[in-house]
This record gives sequence, structure tokens and C-alpha cells, in this order.
Amino acid sequence: MIKHMVCSGLAILGMASAMAGAADSPASLMAQYAQQAGVPVSALAAPRGAALYRTEHAGRNGQAVSCAGCHTANPTQVGRTRVGKRIEPLAPAANPQRFTDAAKVEKWFRRNCQDVLQRECSAQEKGDFIAWLSQVK
Ligand code: HEC
Repeated sequence: MIKHMVCSGLAILGMASAMAGAADSPASLMAQYAQQAGVPVSALAAPRGAALYRTEHAGRNGQAVSCAGCHTANPTQVGRTRVGKRIEPLAPAANPQRFTDAAKVEKWFRRNCQDVLQRECSAQEKGDFIAWLSQVK
């Protein structure tokens, strides 16, 4: 049931961005994730987003992994993948293209949350994450 609601939420999110010509923004994505989580936008918490970013977890091969591992301790800085590929900064203050394409955001949340947490992030976690990143200067 919850899974079904999440799926239809994502479908609506996808449709909305298709109709709007992918004119998403950090604020519109926060609103959509809050709605999916069933909470007001004011219930998204930047400190929880920061904790999600920094907390290390045991990865698949026992190594410590975190979002900061690739995106660096400071998300206004250029990051590196584990094979050394450049990643543009994740914070919108340093990279205005971030959080402007719902499909891209969903794709990378799915992939990176699986990588670090070995599960998908919840709508609340995604909202918290964007709430924090969009106030990083
Ligand atoms: C193994 C390296 C790696 C780790 C660990 C990682 N990421 Fe990423 N992330 C990437 C790459 C590569 C991209 C895509 C390239 C790009 O957009 O510059 C990306 C892009 C993203 C995007 C897309 C944002 C946008 O609008 O363009 C989001 C959201 C994201 N990551 C969230 C996370 C979160 C949340 C975590 C921790 C749970 C995390 N990442 C951990 C490598 C990583």
C-alpha cells in the first residue's frame, strides 16, 4: 500500500515535470517530497539532511561509505567518484543546475542511497537532503 502510494507519487512527480518542461527547482522538489511523505514542507529538517550526507555506513565490501565520500565534506566543492571521475558540486549555491530535473534527481537518489544505505531513501530523507543543500553557501 505504502509502496503503491510512493509509486503513484513518483508518477505524478514525473508527469508534473514533463508538463512543466522539467522546470523543477529545489523548492518545488521539496514541496513534492514533503507531499509524498505526508508532512508540511516546514517539517523538512536541514540538520537531518546534513546528517544523512555525512554519516558513514558499512558499504557492500565492509568499507565506510557516505554521500560525502564522493561529494566531499563540503558540497560546494568538486567531488570525485571512486574511480576518480569529476563530479560537479552538489550544492545549488555552487551549481545552479542541481535539483532542476526531477527525473535526474530521482535516478541519482535511487542509485546513491542504494550504494550508501543499501536501501532507497524515503521521501522525507530526500526532502531533508534538499532542504539542507539548498541552504549551504
Ligand atoms: C560513489 C560516489 C557517490 C556517492 C557515494 C554518492 N553520490 Fe550522489 N552522485 C554521484 C554521481 C557520479 C552523480 C551524477 C553526476 C553528476 O550529477 O554530477 C551524483 C549525483 C547525485 C544527485 C543528483 C542531483 C542533481 O540534481 O543533479 C543527487 C540527488 C545525489 N547524487 C545524492 C546523493 C546522496 C543522497 C548520497 C548519499 C546517500 C550520494 N549522492 C552519494 C556519485 C555519488
